[in-house]
Amino acid sequence: MKALVLAGGSGTRLRPITHTSAKQLVPVANKPVLFYGLEAIAQTGVREVGLVVGDTHAEIEAAVGDGSAFGLEVTYLRQEAPLGLAHGVLIARDFLGDDDFVMYLGDNFIVGGINELVDRFNTRRPAAQILLTEVSDPKQFGVAELDAQGRVIGLEEKPERPKSDLALVGVYLFSPAVHRAVAELKPSWRGELEITDAIQWLIEEGLDVDSSVISGYWKDTGNVTDMLEVNRLVLESLEPRVEGLVDEASELVGRVVVEPGASVERSRVVGPVILGAGTRIRDSYVGPFTSVGADCLVSDSELDYSIVLQGTSIVGVGRIESSLIGHHVEVTASVNTPKAHRLVLGDHSKVRIGT
Ligand code: TTP
Repeated sequence: MKALVLAGGSGTRLRPITHTSAKQLVPVANKPVLFYGLEAIAQTGVREVGLVVGDTHAEIEAAVGDGSAFGLEVTYLRQEAPLGLAHGVLIARDFLGDDDFVMYLGDNFIVGGINELVDRFNTRRPAAQILLTEVSDPKQFGVAELDAQGRVIGLEEKPERPKSDLALVGVYLFSPAVHRAVAELKPSWRGELEITDAIQWLIEEGLDVDSSVISGYWKDTGNVTDMLEVNRLVLESLEPRVEGLVDEASELVGRVVVEPGASVERSRVVGPVILGAGTRIRDSYVGPFTSVGADCLVSDSELDYSIVLQGTSIVGVGRIESSLIGHHVEVTASVNTPKAHRLVLGDHSKVRIGT
């Protein structure tokens, strides 16, 4: 079995972060979301990974390299435009050959790995196997209809009137039969080759499309709320570790990671929190479920339930919460007012906030 990981796309829902960065590299607990997926693949024993990349290919190649850090052999497959998930399969045709493969969307996050799914596929050998989860707003997703035995009898992409509340999760297993389906596809109304249409084609051909429902957590980290939620979830299992400096006037409460070269001065940090290498926290409060990347400065401020990327400084601005802040952002004080701010800031933004 091989793996196909999709890390192209345009990431419009995470703008402005994605104007300058690949959304798959946005960190969760200071590790790119894509790395969790690659680790889950490595755990299944699969070695050969095709990584579909688009405009952000250079950044992803710099982060993932040849895959050896994950115990994988990565082949990069350049997609000239985000023409759909099934288009990713189309351009990977030569790489995939006649092998079965697991397809993994590079911005998805699945707790507990994918070993069970791969084992189920290898035992049952359907033409395709999809993963489903119950959602409250099925209109936003690809939705499956199952028969009484749990076999998939139909799929619809973002339906007006959903036939179930079971949405597709971004991990699929395919036999080589999918290539016939993909070759037949026409672009959908949104101009993309849809993987749901390919699976629907397999169903209509009478081939076995198996499904399993996960109750475990998953998130498509495509938007800010989901990113913060996944960050919270990963930080829940953080192992505390202090390798930087914490002065006597500071207090660390609960599970806090202070990476080497980071410092905490006259501050209170209530975990779970991770502070990246070289980051300085001064005269501040950092609250639960916050990840601060490397080489940041937080001074005279309060930061809670947020993700801050590398090289950013937040100085004298009161309280920031539920925020995703890009690389090398400067948030500094100007005049009066609010105590809480909600921010989505792109890389290199400069924001002046009332104090
Ligand atoms: P999506 O989140 O469905 O699409 P997107 O990245 O274009 O984001 P948005 O909707 O915010 O504009 O993509 C899921 C994953 O698949 C993500 O990692 C990007 C990747 N992808 C490709 O590699 N090629 C494609 O053609 C598409 C549509 C997505």
